Amino acid sequence: MQPHIRKAVIPVAGYGTRFLPLTKTIPKELVPVLDKPIIQYVVEEALASGIEEILLVTNETKRSLQEYLSDIPELKPHLRFMTQIGPYGSATPILNAKSFIGDEPFAVLLGDELFVAEVPRIRQLINAFEKTGDPMLGVIRTDDAGTKRYGIVDPRSPKTDQTFRVFDFSEKPGPERAPSRLASIGAYILTPDIFDAINRIGPAANGEFQLTDAFRLLMADRPFYGCQLDGDYFDVGTKLGWLEANIAMALRSEELGKEAVEFMKGMLSK
Ligand code: G1P
Repeated sequence: MQPHIRKAVIPVAGYGTRFLPLTKTIPKELVPVLDKPIIQYVVEEALASGIEEILLVTNETKRSLQEYLSDIPELKPHLRFMTQIGPYGSATPILNAKSFIGDEPFAVLLGDELFVAEVPRIRQLINAFEKTGDPMLGVIRTDDAGTKRYGIVDPRSPKTDQTFRVFDFSEKPGPERAPSRLASIGAYILTPDIFDAINRIGPAANGEFQLTDAFRLLMADRPFYGCQLDGDYFDVGTKLGWLEANIAMALRSEELGKEAVEFMKGMLSK
């Protein structure tokens, strides 16, 4: 029986440079898909997966993000906020969360991704974790372009199952160097030994402290898994991903679906 996963960390201190100039004043996590900011979908996904307490690691310029979430009565009791302290990079907010997490496995979700699925994405990872008790990366299939955008996992031999062992990880390697076409997206289950691994990494070539470098260190020491997720993934932190998310959600919406289809047909026939 594996320990119950009760806590999640959502890093939200990033500047959102892919969404300039909007992000000069509006945090990228407040960018809406239809009528709801992306961060609300992410928080709701965590709660629907059975997570009870969520730490958002933020920065001082994003007060509006905290205000928005704290104003939603169903979400507020589950949320904690802290200001990110330390060097730039994805490892820092996780290390900052150490005292909140303590000594238990936990979930990490990135604050600008939408995953639409029958079984919420973090629940799929928790279900897989319950069988192994080892760190678990949420993975989707990608293409050559995706190898420049995502971390790519190395399953070493062709993967046969939904859940498979990962032996190495390359952050945005490009099509030539990518060990597979399986992309790790922004949903992880991690074990507390990640904190020690983060303390052992240095800055990457781009100067950032990358969580994915800590994954590579841990993979050398212990089993690490990937879980291929069922559902539709939208990288809302990019312009194209944001557009696709809005189109997909409009097409599926009871309120807007019919009119959205008519509008798109009209535009395409012009
Ligand atoms: C991060 C991770 C990367 C992952 C991606 C998913 O990159 O480092 O491994 O594939 O999120 O969105 P970032 O989007 O911060 O560049």
